[in-house]
Amino acid sequence: MHVLGIESSCDETGAAVVDDAGRVLSDVVQSQVALHAPYGGVVPELASRDHLRNIGPVVRAALAEAGCTLAGIDGVAVTHRPGLVGALLVGVQFAKGLAWAAGRPLVGVDHLMGHLLSVFLRRGADDSPPPRFPFVCLLVSGGHTALYRVDAPEAAAVRELGATRDDAAGEAFDKVAKTLGLGYPGGPAIDRLAAKGDASRVKLSTPMAARGSLEMSFSGVKTQVARLVAQAAAPLDDGWVADVCASFQTTVTALLARKVVEAAMSERVEDVVLGGGVAANSELRRRVREAGAARGLRVLVPPLPSCTDNAAMIAYAGAARLARGERDAWDLVATSRTALERKTRKGRGAR
Ligand code: KG4
Ligand code: ZN
Repeated sequence: MHVLGIESSCDETGAAVVDDAGRVLSDVVQSQVALHAPYGGVVPELASRDHLRNIGPVVRAALAEAGCTLAGIDGVAVTHRPGLVGALLVGVQFAKGLAWAAGRPLVGVDHLMGHLLSVFLRRGADDSPPPRFPFVCLLVSGGHTALYRVDAPEAAAVRELGATRDDAAGEAFDKVAKTLGLGYPGGPAIDRLAAKGDASRVKLSTPMAARGSLEMSFSGVKTQVARLVAQAAAPLDDGWVADVCASFQTTVTALLARKVVEAAMSERVEDVVLGGGVAANSELRRRVREAGAARGLRVLVPPLPSCTDNAAMIAYAGAARLARGERDAWDLVATSRTALERKTRKGRGAR
């Protein structure tokens, strides 16, 4: 089964063709980073307009790269939540049109399900074994930071174990980078500079450090950095900025690594998986691997193109739905909240 996936929830227009074994036949991502960089963050109106411009060429390129025509596609999967509604609508409407024209089934995919299952994608020569169910996934992106237990590749078999109470980790990376004048998106810039800095030269306190809780918080550490910058003499010294990046990154990644290992131990699972854009962070990848190995866990870290937003993960999660015989009606709508969020909020009470 060949599934065409479409992703347009935020600032990446993506289309990909994936088979039901997770083999990626094509994965095209048109990033809007340069468009939003002057504003220091994503401007929703500009994002929607750029998706409209790019979606046709991106889908055409994904089909061509996979050596497919529309007639060779068995189903269409599209991110329909969560995300910027105007941006989601572009992908959803395009997917509906394609599915209708091709006479193929359509399924909506929760973007978070895409990230949770991205570890199953097989790219080129990559033959690392997939995780075994159940596994614990640390999903860290610009919009979400949470720990999940995943018992099967479907939303009904996913349980949230803990989450950030305020900012997502990626949001904190982006805001700290902005405060330090490093531009947008901040994660990759901090990752690069942290390698040159000395974390021990800048003291930051660790948020929500209590053991036994899987809740997290990242807004306090972001505010600590903002205070340090306000007190520092302008222009900021490059060496000091690198030290701040190193300290911030160490504080955040050490906490995330500890929480995901605690989650795996308390759930008694053997496999730990990373997903989301912040899973591209070199220190987080290293720390989770080391902390997991020390406790006898198997840590699976997807390659970078599977961590950041892409349509291949949407196609794969959609293929799982299609294989179960699930179909969405034409009233498929784009919504900003996620079913996973609704489920867990209800279970945990109001936050
Ligand atoms: O998953 P993603 O591509 O989009 C969302 O669904 O949010 O994640 C984007 C986030 C941004 O906050 C970006 O700064 C962060 O991932 N990011 C990183 C790195 N690469 C991307 N954060 C830390 N280190 C990185 N190397
Ligand atoms: Zn994402």
